[in-house]
Amino acid sequence: RYNPSMQATHLPRHVAIVMDGNGRWAEQKNLSRSQGHEQGAQMAVESVRYCGEVGIDVLTLFAFSSENWQRPLQEVNFLMGLFITTLEAQLPELNRQQVQFRVIGDLSQLNQELQDRFKAAQNLTQNNTGLCLNIAANYGGRWDIVNAAKRLASAVSEGKLNPKDIDEACFHQYTCLSDLPEPDLFIRTGGEFRISNFLLWQLAYTEMYVTDVPWPEFTIKELQGAMEAFQQRKRRFGQTDGQLED
Ligand code: FPP
Repeated sequence: RYNPSMQATHLPRHVAIVMDGNGRWAEQKNLSRSQGHEQGAQMAVESVRYCGEVGIDVLTLFAFSSENWQRPLQEVNFLMGLFITTLEAQLPELNRQQVQFRVIGDLSQLNQELQDRFKAAQNLTQNNTGLCLNIAANYGGRWDIVNAAKRLASAVSEGKLNPKDIDEACFHQYTCLSDLPEPDLFIRTGGEFRISNFLLWQLAYTEMYVTDVPWPEFTIKELQGAMEAFQQRKRRFGQTDGQLED
């Protein structure tokens, strides 16, 4: 299933995806929004398998944002149920693929069954050595930063940290995903040029790739296309071309 022409080198280590366009895709096909999400879940499963196979280290998927609670209750409930059934159906296979399953976000607001299943999946897969899969659920980039600030403030008030020692590297330690490489490639399907409160701190130097293709049609071929586009990019991290050639 691989594209043999794709170079195996210079692959992104960490890919972060906003899986947008499920609803619009469904409406265009006269399907229900739920059917769009179902097809979206299928594409998520395929993306995970592919990323593991090609040797991506980390895949972070935006499954549910802190703003998504504002959707009709019926759609919110459907999504929560879909997370449970997809996880239940896929967990043995994810484990077999050596996927390390993790969740980021404010989990306390999710229903108890989902919290329990997330916890069980993390425990089961924590020592796996393959792809690290992060599901962002009730996640918001600003929440992440505020949460880090809160924990820093606690460390200071407990006398464990001197405010003079707070720098970017120190702050980073308190944000989500701090033990993983930062995202190299951000993909957004569904055509909108927005970050939508996804990984605000972590995306500082990430290459952005936006496509009109809605998530339910974002096949492995499309994913490969995004990775090939990434391989063509020149990442300067603030330096000049000349400095990079040295
Ligand atoms: C955006 O499409 C998608 C979501 C809010 C939910 C993401 C969920 C999935 C892709 C399915 C489940 C995923 C996993 C990991 C099991 P949208 O509804 O905003 O689309 P629209 O902008 O066209 O309305």
